Amino acid sequence: MQNNLINTVLCNRPISSNSMREDFFYSRLQDIWEASQRSDIASELMHPIYRYPASMSPHIARSLLQAFTSPGDTILDPFCGGGTTAVEALAHGRKAICSDLNNLACFITRSKASTLSRNELVRLREWVDTKALPSLRTRAISPKPLVTKDGSKYVPQTHALLLKMRDIAKEIPSRKLERIAKLMILRAGQLCFDCRERFVNPAVLVQAFVKTANDVIDRAENYAKCCELTKVSRDNRRRLSVLCADAENISRILGQRISSVSCILTSPPYPGVHVLYHRWQFRGRKEITLPYEIAELNNGASESYYTLGPRREKDSHTYFCRLGRIFSHLNESVRAGTLVAQVVAFSRPDYQLPKYLNVMYKAGFNEMGISQEGKPLIHRAIPNRKWYIRTGNVESDMREYILVHRSTGKVVQRVFENNKCYKSARKDYL
Ligand SMILES: C[S@@+](CC[C@H](N)C(=O)[O-])C[C@H]1O[C@@H](n2cnc3c(N)ncnc32)[C@H](O)[C@@H]1O
Repeated sequence: MQNNLINTVLCNRPISSNSMREDFFYSRLQDIWEASQRSDIASELMHPIYRYPASMSPHIARSLLQAFTSPGDTILDPFCGGGTTAVEALAHGRKAICSDLNNLACFITRSKASTLSRNELVRLREWVDTKALPSLRTRAISPKPLVTKDGSKYVPQTHALLLKMRDIAKEIPSRKLERIAKLMILRAGQLCFDCRERFVNPAVLVQAFVKTANDVIDRAENYAKCCELTKVSRDNRRRLSVLCADAENISRILGQRISSVSCILTSPPYPGVHVLYHRWQFRGRKEITLPYEIAELNNGASESYYTLGPRREKDSHTYFCRLGRIFSHLNESVRAGTLVAQVVAFSRPDYQLPKYLNVMYKAGFNEMGISQEGKPLIHRAIPNRKWYIRTGNVESDMREYILVHRSTGKVVQRVFENNKCYKSARKDYL
């Protein structure tokens, strides 16, 4: 990070920021900035297993958790998505509490971030070699077409084979291993169906499964070693908790446990940016629910359910009200002084970014000085992203911003409480 940027941050830092933890954070600014500028896809640990939409860069997550926490600390990610925070936390000797209202996200986080024992790894390899692969080669299948949202039907043989793989995974007599086996199938399915134009035949799917299965087992082995080496306590209980819940309810669900949180590290949905968290797209933009079928999860909700509000709402009002409620609740439950690091992008940063910062302020969080005139100093162009933005005539900038706040323990203004006050709140938070 250029010296003048560091100096600006140091000049802007709150006068009362004299805790050792905060001093440590400021001393790590250079690392955070360098991590934010990396555009390579993280290839370590469990990250490459399953591509979750709008996932946080593991480089950024790592630099932030190293700047904010120490081994043994507990990190909360209330919008955990594909589990980046959880994997990084456990691999670096921290504990993680994660939640998401998308049960696919919870499934992925739980499968990617749980560690397997040596015995479990052996059993998983045995299942692949002696059950999954022979069954795929011998059992007959009846075709079952993949039906897209518009009712079109495709690839009946390959689709039927994928579902058969899932059924073979269900034969494993361990829920944890069944989940990892399904994760392998999910990844093989993603490689063959998600954002694919071409039809894939069953042989290609089997190849993808073999490659993925070996990759998952190798990575799970390394990941487990890494977590074992870095953990500070022998107690494995509660190193990872995954809750399937709305972030608004997380304080209530966690009760006293939330006071053990040292830092919140998260990436909420982005205002005005439509990301398909809950669907794959096949042959152009034909949406499919296949990931839920593989993981055997309920997928009833519409897209705005997962994005904190409708993308087309002009001023993203619903989004900001819900965001305000979530952060107000969090502020009142975590210890005062808890640091919150967020990675967020905006379809219209010119007016959404000040609004976002204002909502954080009203919810009782103080900015830690890494913004200047309302513009965060650490940001980056987002590499390899696929999303849709309602831009109108406005040029959209594809940037991710790093925001850092400190909880004051007190909500400044309660304007987000219920739907009735939405309209009057509109003018309040700007
Ligand atoms: C930007 S993604 C998080 C990506 C994640 N950091 C990762 O690395 O994969 C935002 C997530 O917020 C979740 N979400 C949206 N509204 C939520 C809510 N009210 N409570 C909890 N999670 C929510 C979405 O399902 C989505 O998984």
